[in-house]
Amino acid sequence: MRSNVLKKAPTWGLILLFFICFQLAAAERPGSAAIATAHPLATAAGHHLLRAGGNAFDAAVGVSAVLAVVEPYSSGIGGGGFWLLHRASDGFETMLDGRERAPLAADRDLYLDQAGKVIPNLSIDGALAAGIPGEPAALAHLARYYGRLSLADSLGPAIRLAREGFKVDSHYRRMAGWRLAVLRAHPASAEQFLQQGEVPVEGTLIKQPDLAETLERIALHGADGFYKGETAQRLVDGVRAAGGIWSLDDLASYRVVERQPIVGRYRGLKITSAAPPSSGGIALVTMLNILQGFDLQSQDEPLRTHLLVEAMRRAYRDRADYLGDPDYVDIPVDALTHPWYAAGMAHDIQLHRASPSVGNIPPAPEGQDTTHFSILDKEGNRVAATLSINYPFGSGFVVPGTGVLLNDEMDDFSASPGVPNVYGLVGGEANAIAGGKRMLSSMTPTFVEDDRRVAILGTPGGSRIITMVLLGILEMADGKGPDSWVERPRFHHQYLPDMIQFEPDAFSDSLKQQLTAMGHNLKPLDRQYGNMHGILWDKREGKVEAASDPRGLGLAQVVKTSSQNRE
Ligand code: DON
Repeated sequence: MRSNVLKKAPTWGLILLFFICFQLAAAERPGSAAIATAHPLATAAGHHLLRAGGNAFDAAVGVSAVLAVVEPYSSGIGGGGFWLLHRASDGFETMLDGRERAPLAADRDLYLDQAGKVIPNLSIDGALAAGIPGEPAALAHLARYYGRLSLADSLGPAIRLAREGFKVDSHYRRMAGWRLAVLRAHPASAEQFLQQGEVPVEGTLIKQPDLAETLERIALHGADGFYKGETAQRLVDGVRAAGGIWSLDDLASYRVVERQPIVGRYRGLKITSAAPPSSGGIALVTMLNILQGFDLQSQDEPLRTHLLVEAMRRAYRDRADYLGDPDYVDIPVDALTHPWYAAGMAHDIQLHRASPSVGNIPPAPEGQDTTHFSILDKEGNRVAATLSINYPFGSGFVVPGTGVLLNDEMDDFSASPGVPNVYGLVGGEANAIAGGKRMLSSMTPTFVEDDRRVAILGTPGGSRIITMVLLGILEMADGKGPDSWVERPRFHHQYLPDMIQFEPDAFSDSLKQQLTAMGHNLKPLDRQYGNMHGILWDKREGKVEAASDPRGLGLAQVVKTSSQNRE
């Protein structure tokens, strides 16, 4: 009897230990996978790759490539972006910088006339507006170093959609209508995206056989399938024939860079976000550091809004002064993201008085493009990625024989000190054009977490990206879920122009009156903006939620692990 007990004790002990370990491990795994993207076909492709045995990184390759095909107005292999990664097995985090860079022959006067004035539209329309794309290299890198599937497998859904076509929706029509003139001006663009020179009707199938072939070359040869050989030659010939300055060396020497993300803290939350050449992480952390000095929850709405605006104003002033490509300029990252530095800025905020911004520029037209997606797999790997070709349909220039629509990301440089770009952003020396340099971005893919919750979020929206992410994080800090982050009404200030831009119905009459009385200039916008996609994993509750911005046509989908396995 006694010996029996002795024999059984360790067995029960082991079982108990095993049970506890299992519970702990389970708490560190979501048990569900979630994908939120701007297009249902991209969300479906991501889940398909997860079911095929891929992880979040494979799904990110597939989703990026599908978005490149079905959202040609937003991102593409002729563009670039930032992929923020978290690997669950060891907690490793990195940002893949697949940002475009200036052609080596570019210099700071590229878009200036003889009198030193910026030539309108030269950095927006056509081949001269295009930076050297980074997305093909980033996808090859992501698949090779982080994925489980082959690059060819992950590109499969995109290649099929490029060949078989996708259906035009209302958003496509609006974007193509906006860029009709430039699409008509380039025969390969008109052939790929228009029908007899007009915006195609809803439901029209857009087939892109040349793009399918280019994607196939990437699937077969990796990054070399784009940056070398036949594709590279066609790209360079096409760009130069259309007035651009690309060389084969520009393409062959393009490299993805892994950068350490920017990290900050706010009310017990850890914020992990985009590093330079994005301004997103630094500006976000600066704003949160400033706001940490105030008890936002106990303020009434006018004062809370005022404080947010003053934090935004200060972070965007620094953006213009200090930020650019970290490989070309020294950025005082530690100082800019230090709570003491923010405390100094918070100190000069007057509680009921708007601070003036120095300078005067007109408000910019709104952009409705670029794309963000968020992915969480069942193991807890995460991706937040924001990708762009800049303006709707980028430069509007498809390189003949490649199906590749080029970006117009060169406009994100400061073409001349103090002259605003298409988003009304000004800059100076730090973001001046130089051969091989990456242009400053506002894209802000972000993770937010504490012991209990993990959030993945981001959005397109030009200069307003960073303040949208800020508003989303504040919702999370108040305990709200992804539906609230993506839905909440939005407002924005970017130092110059000195005005609060806000969505229709975002401010009540009384709020408007009180902000005006504090000295703020108000600029009501005609339309809503942004297209945020967020995921929340509540570890304690074992629950995963995802949401896509109701302003867009995207799809957020959570799939239980068991059904991932079953299908
Ligand atoms: O990198 C940037 O900051 C811009 N090229 C992003 C453009 C954008 O989000 C346009 N969306 N409205």
